[in-house]
Amino acid sequence: MTPYVISGATLPSGERADLYIADGCFRDPADVVGEVRRIDADGLIALPGLVDLHTHLREPGREDAETIESGTLAAARGGFTCVHAMANTEPVTDTAEEAEHVLEIAARDGHCQVVPIGAVSKQLEGVELAELGMMARSKARVRVFSDDGRCVADSLLMRRALSYVTAFDGVIAQHSQDPRLAGAGACCHESEISGRLGLPGWPAQAESVIVARDVQLAELTGSRLHVCHVSTAESVEVIRWAKARGVKVTAEATPHHLYLDTAEVIGYDTTYKVNPPLRTSEHIEAVRAALADGTIDAVATDHAPHTPQDKDHPFDVALPGMLGLEQALAVVIETMVKPGRLSWAEVAERMSHAPARIGQLTTQGRPLAVGEPANLVLVDPQATAVVDRAQSASRSRNNPYHGRTLPNPVVTTIWAGQITHQR
Ligand code: DOR
Repeated sequence: MTPYVISGATLPSGERADLYIADGCFRDPADVVGEVRRIDADGLIALPGLVDLHTHLREPGREDAETIESGTLAAARGGFTCVHAMANTEPVTDTAEEAEHVLEIAARDGHCQVVPIGAVSKQLEGVELAELGMMARSKARVRVFSDDGRCVADSLLMRRALSYVTAFDGVIAQHSQDPRLAGAGACCHESEISGRLGLPGWPAQAESVIVARDVQLAELTGSRLHVCHVSTAESVEVIRWAKARGVKVTAEATPHHLYLDTAEVIGYDTTYKVNPPLRTSEHIEAVRAALADGTIDAVATDHAPHTPQDKDHPFDVALPGMLGLEQALAVVIETMVKPGRLSWAEVAERMSHAPARIGQLTTQGRPLAVGEPANLVLVDPQATAVVDRAQSASRSRNNPYHGRTLPNPVVTTIWAGQITHQR
């Protein structure tokens, strides 16, 4: 491929630069010989390629909802150069063979890097540990383990999982949901609204009691804990407390928990059914403040595609989950950058550097510097658009931003020097 230069881009630091790319990496201009193609980035911000810690790609098993091909195309359109693929596929990614299988499909079909997440427990049943060591040592080099969609509720199993992964500096990414406090039927935030709608509620404490237990288990074992999709003020307080004690805990917030509140469920539109549920403005504010001050380390999408067959049901029966990859950066700009709560350098940290560190990745989340892999996204900070779910690259249509006017930032995505999205 002809070498190229991205000219006049604004770096996260605010400096302007010409970025030379050849053979998949950023190069010193003096080392680039011959013809050079020019990409004008005047007025655009260059961020390191975004890294998602939490993506449901549904393949293998539910290719009617999403495939690795369609999900990674949605990722590229959202500015991502890497996604972590959640383990709750069919079959579950709970062996080295399954993790390698995901990697093989991604090598053939992927529009970005795909890093398999391994299940914590066999079949996500929460009873016996999955083959954590074999997955870690496999070609898939699994470092993040999660039963996401389900909570590892058994304290002893959670302790063992945390202890086990210290051998390879792995991390347990927990879906914090006490299965008794928020049982199978719980389908929206427990509040005056859930009472009025007659929907079984999911109290904030069903999340924070698990977070409080897990940070203590992380302290006991000296292991790394990652808290998925933090949605409550109480969880934020617990994480802040644990970090101050030196516990190795990291946390993520989703775009939807930064932006949407529980009042969305009033029309019984199952697009807004998600786990953990959308909360109230007090919780949203606590999550935003935690993302701003670094208590929450990363933004992760929890992109959860579902078919109409799984969504077109009464609210308490429909499957939980909403799309997130294509609008993640837009929502972060709307809720955090425009109000002055995150700088561009901090967006790069929360959406690229931090998730790459948490996932122990070596070629993602790197600085935009000579010799580094050319993973980046060019961002127009001014553009806006009305979101149209019919335009999505995803196979599913459960987009909670449909019909809303939001920033439309992603102009070009480049993964390992290749353009994977250009609008
Ligand atoms: O709403 C959700 N959907 N939350 C999860 O944790 C799992 C996900 C899914 O797999 O659909």
